[in-house]
Amino acid sequence: MTQDWEDDEPSGGIKRDDVVAAALEIGVDAFTMGKVAKRLGVQPADLRRAVASRDDLLAACMERVAAGLRLPRTGLDWADHLRYLADSIWTMLEHYPGLDHTLIDIPWAGVPFAPAVKRSHTALVEAGLAEADAYLALDHLVGIVLTAHRSAAALRGPAGPGQRGIDAATQVWDEYYGQDGATFGVEGVQGFGPRSSDLAALRPQESWADAASLGTKIEILIEGLRASTAVMAAGPGAHGAASADSPHAAQETEPPMNTLVLVFHPDIENSRVNKALAARAETLGGDITVRYMYDIYPDFTIDVEAEQQALLAADRIVLQYPMYWLSTTPLLKKWLDDVLTFGWAYGSTGTALHGKELLLAVSVGGSGSAYGREGAHIFTVHEFLRPMQGTSRVIGTKYMVPFLSVGALEITDEAIAQRAEDYAAVLSASKLPVLDIFG
Ligand SMILES: Cc1cc2nc3c(=O)[nH]c(=O)nc-3n(C[C@H](O)[C@H](O)[C@H](O)COP(=O)(O)O)c2cc1C
Repeated sequence: MTQDWEDDEPSGGIKRDDVVAAALEIGVDAFTMGKVAKRLGVQPADLRRAVASRDDLLAACMERVAAGLRLPRTGLDWADHLRYLADSIWTMLEHYPGLDHTLIDIPWAGVPFAPAVKRSHTALVEAGLAEADAYLALDHLVGIVLTAHRSAAALRGPAGPGQRGIDAATQVWDEYYGQDGATFGVEGVQGFGPRSSDLAALRPQESWADAASLGTKIEILIEGLRASTAVMAAGPGAHGAASADSPHAAQETEPPMNTLVLVFHPDIENSRVNKALAARAETLGGDITVRYMYDIYPDFTIDVEAEQQALLAADRIVLQYPMYWLSTTPLLKKWLDDVLTFGWAYGSTGTALHGKELLLAVSVGGSGSAYGREGAHIFTVHEFLRPMQGTSRVIGTKYMVPFLSVGALEITDEAIAQRAEDYAAVLSASKLPVLDIFG
């Protein structure tokens, strides 16, 4: 008791920091003064000496969270800065359940983040973005990450006894339109709307419940900024927008790609996803060549010279395969070992593939929610692809945002058909986004 008089804390042993920690543990959207007091084993009135009100406590929570936000290191390209920041904000939102809608719903809740936003703004301007574009970029980025996370959290979270949001969403969808579109088909006949097949891509999917699509959204933001007048006005000498060291610089001027699609599926006949994707790729013809590697090398004896010649002729190299044991299929591994030789693909004279695009097209059996920090596999699909991303760095190729087909074991025929169309669009695109090391 005597010590308490000497203690500079305003209450009998209850520190403001502890109250903040307790509130954060309960959840920024869920704590009440009563719950916090109970957690600390004191009476609600005792808290008043450490925090003035619930709003005061919420502000203190926000200050704590903002102080922990990981900002990109200085000197990054502006696009890389944005990618890193998006990843960092997502991680923060994952760490503090309820933070996303607190930031959306409570107008002042974001105020403690102002210093962090300012630091990011300064870094973006130093990296070549115009002042207004830097604010625009941050505004959009925060909006995208918050809403994407809020929506993903709602899909992952409970929607009723034993039911997740994604289950409820698909159930309601099927009640409206029928899983096979039968219900909607009736309306379609009556002329009330499009045919069911037109809506298949809109049926809620497991992948919506994780961060899988966030990278694409951020890339669209980056490409939009890159294309805006103000960004171009920063000039080709400005770091970032179109600078020579930007990974995107070459894409601005490159003609359509000579594309080599190497399909590494051990049993393509019985495949659903890869078979459909490869077949659709074949229909594109022109500059797009598709090779079924297991058919060409059934005994795993790879013609290294022929493979290297094929690679040399390509601007964009697509490695298409199903994820097996969180990795590649065995022939792809053998192909990497045999074809990417020292002095040709890597080493001081190994520059044969420098500057080419490397695009992975991977089907992943597990659902989107099986990957990521909350999922059974803990790591994201992108993290499991790191060895390929690292290989890309070693051989000097540009590592494009991978084309992932998650939930490939349960995927419907309609969704496969849609995926094949998406694949055709990606393969035909003259410009694709690069995935940064932080992606
Ligand atoms: C040997 C083997 C290992 C697999 N490992 C994984 C895995 O680690 N993670 C996963 O999500 N799916 C895994 N799967 C599921 C495949 O990824 C899935 O069957 C494939 O992507 C579906 O594509 P397809 O229809 O073209 O065959 C595995 C399948 C097999 C046969």
